[in-house]
Amino acid sequence: MFVVGGSAGVDIAKRVVELSKDAVLAEVESKRFPDKEFYIRFLDKLKDEDVVLIQTSYPDENLVELLITMDAVVEAQARSLTVALPYFSYSRQDKKFKEGEPISARAVANMVSLYADNVISIDPHKDYILDFFDAQTKCCSAVGELAAHLKKMDVDFVLAPDKGALDTAQQAAGIIGCDFDYMQKTRLDGTTVEIKPKKLDAKERIVAIVDDIISTGGTMAKSIAELKKQGAKKVIVCCTHGLFIGGAIEKLKKAGCDEIIATDTIKSEYSKVSCAPCIVEALKDLL
Ligand code: R5P
Repeated sequence: MFVVGGSAGVDIAKRVVELSKDAVLAEVESKRFPDKEFYIRFLDKLKDEDVVLIQTSYPDENLVELLITMDAVVEAQARSLTVALPYFSYSRQDKKFKEGEPISARAVANMVSLYADNVISIDPHKDYILDFFDAQTKCCSAVGELAAHLKKMDVDFVLAPDKGALDTAQQAAGIIGCDFDYMQKTRLDGTTVEIKPKKLDAKERIVAIVDDIISTGGTMAKSIAELKKQGAKKVIVCCTHGLFIGGAIEKLKKAGCDEIIATDTIKSEYSKVSCAPCIVEALKDLL
């Protein structure tokens, strides 16, 4: 099995190779042309091989890189192509919220399905978006890895910042062995959210707020402020996909956040947990 790491997946690919038996990191020559268009060439013979391509499709230039690399794999006559999308971009536009809009998650899935036999997705925003793929799909979660990390930090309370994150919070709390709760959030627009005040059992506790995505930080900031107001000793924010758009980090710190933890699905200085073990497990089921 050859593992190909795109520029937004190469570190995960290296870790997957380290953790797997019989996996080899594919050697590639790649560059951007002067006009910034992407070029890639495989230096290994991929004919009749199983190929796993790991590439987050965010931002858009990485989506195009994914498309061009998939084409190269198919041209090389690989036996199978498994695409691992650590972060599946456009997944939040998973339906038409207003007439005239696209279903962007489906558009990305259609593009990947042109080439891939199998697709691996980590903590997709909604599970049903995997139905947009024609390929066989495998959904996995980084919550186990994140919860193990939080347990080492003596977290003793887990909070979901909205109802959508409740399952994740419950799973994390189960692994840590602590209580959990959730907030009721209303999104007013892309950058503004409101939460309903609620009494939380957080006084003097080390609290982790868990969510799938941190984008502008607005959702987390509201919960952090509420927890601090209610006397939490320490507030850690934790997510699988850390987009950290614009001033998100400042917003989190200003609200009183003590620590920020994300996985490496989108690489940043906060990527303290790797999603590679989840991909390795998913591959065992697919190949
Ligand atoms: C929404 O349903 C997601 O799970 C996240 O809560 C949301 O994407 C976070 O966005 P932001 O950081 O901009 O509030």
